[in-house]
Amino acid sequence: MSKSEKIIMEDNQYFAKPGRIPYYPLAISHGYGATLVDVDGNEYIDLLSSASSQNVGHAPEPVTNAIKAQVDRFIHYTPAYMYHEPLVKLAKKLCAISPGDYDKRVLFGLSGSDANDGVIKLAKAYTGRPYVISFVNAYHGSTYGSLSMSAISLNMRKKYGPMLPGFYHIPYPDKYRGMYGNTEANSVESYLAPLKEMFEKYVPAEEVACIMIETFQGDGGLLEPVDGYFEALQALCKAHGILLAVDDIQQGLGRTGEWSSVSHFDIEPDIITFGKSLAGGLPMSAIVGRAEIMDYLDAPAHLFTTGANPVSCEAALATLSMIEDQNLLQASKDKGDYVRKRMDQWVNQYAAVGDVRGKGLSIGIDIVSDKLNKTRDATAALKICNRCFDHGVVIIAVAGNVLRFQPPLVITYEQLDQALNVLEAAIQDLQSGKLDNYNIAGQGW
Ligand SMILES: Cc1ncc(COP(=O)(O)O)c(C=O)c1O
Repeated sequence: MSKSEKIIMEDNQYFAKPGRIPYYPLAISHGYGATLVDVDGNEYIDLLSSASSQNVGHAPEPVTNAIKAQVDRFIHYTPAYMYHEPLVKLAKKLCAISPGDYDKRVLFGLSGSDANDGVIKLAKAYTGRPYVISFVNAYHGSTYGSLSMSAISLNMRKKYGPMLPGFYHIPYPDKYRGMYGNTEANSVESYLAPLKEMFEKYVPAEEVACIMIETFQGDGGLLEPVDGYFEALQALCKAHGILLAVDDIQQGLGRTGEWSSVSHFDIEPDIITFGKSLAGGLPMSAIVGRAEIMDYLDAPAHLFTTGANPVSCEAALATLSMIEDQNLLQASKDKGDYVRKRMDQWVNQYAAVGDVRGKGLSIGIDIVSDKLNKTRDATAALKICNRCFDHGVVIIAVAGNVLRFQPPLVITYEQLDQALNVLEAAIQDLQSGKLDNYNIAGQGW
């Protein structure tokens, strides 16, 4: 039995099912840059970045050094009662890099989920309104508030409902497929129609606290919105006094080539959340918003004993410095453009590739069984993923059939070439029937 097999066997015995979406038998020993090494010494190119929580790569020295230095000073003292400088420096930095030309404040948490819960509390309290609107297909997290805003998987609803009251979901303005089975994208007006109908018939607009958006829906399938939708949505929000909230937990911090994915649009959110890569993979999330919203509640309305841990704060400061020092926003754009030159051609070359989309190094490859009808082919996507894994490339599928191409921003061009070779060969193998016998039972979302 290999070391990996032994670990995985024991894992199955002790780690409970709700905590992992099963993919490959990969037990990690260590990593560097965009490389992962398993406990048996096999090397992989990581195109998943630990669900986009390793934007600056695995074990980057500036971050590991910052962590080591801080643990020797003190590991934690809760900001619920006392002060520490790493928190102040980080809060200041986050205010500087977040979108919005206004006076800002920051709150910290431990996961993207709790940050989004904080948005719900703050938006409801500040506006004095009970309702929250978000999008079908959205993934906002795993706590009851963020779950209530999410609408992506019945496994996130079944057996422990009901969710929190007062949450509604509207269609995401998908640029590739339209609403309700339409093959073509709808217009901005059509995408806004369900919201407008809601406001006319069953949800008073003046009682809506906030609308929460994921600019590019990540786990929902790396979806891009139709042009002009979010701008029109913000106009509607302003007309009704509704706050615009952005969940930038997956798409922020360089993933799309910008500090915030909001920069791709002409909108100004009132409040935004970050997480995942913020502290280089240590647990940390942040809510950044207008000072008057953020300061509206009194303690202990949103605090966590180990929140804004100084080790995580130092890791975050080092992560953000690394993005600046190594020009990783530009690298994300350049490397994204580089891979797209090749990938975009696959749409014409291969029947199975329906669409390639995204910004920077946040790219989705939509695998279909029928290009005309854009029929999702989750089985084919999983087979491609498995073939890649067999050839040393880690990639998964979201929304069933969309390959999630989100490598660390520090990935080298050689690694990108190699990953593209493996990915393209897997697509070719799929088309020539070589993957017919792949067993993918029990894998994926
Ligand atoms: C867009 C988005 N929001 C929130 C979350 C939840 O973050 P966490 O798992 O850290 O709670 C995720 C995680 O995948 C996400 O992709």
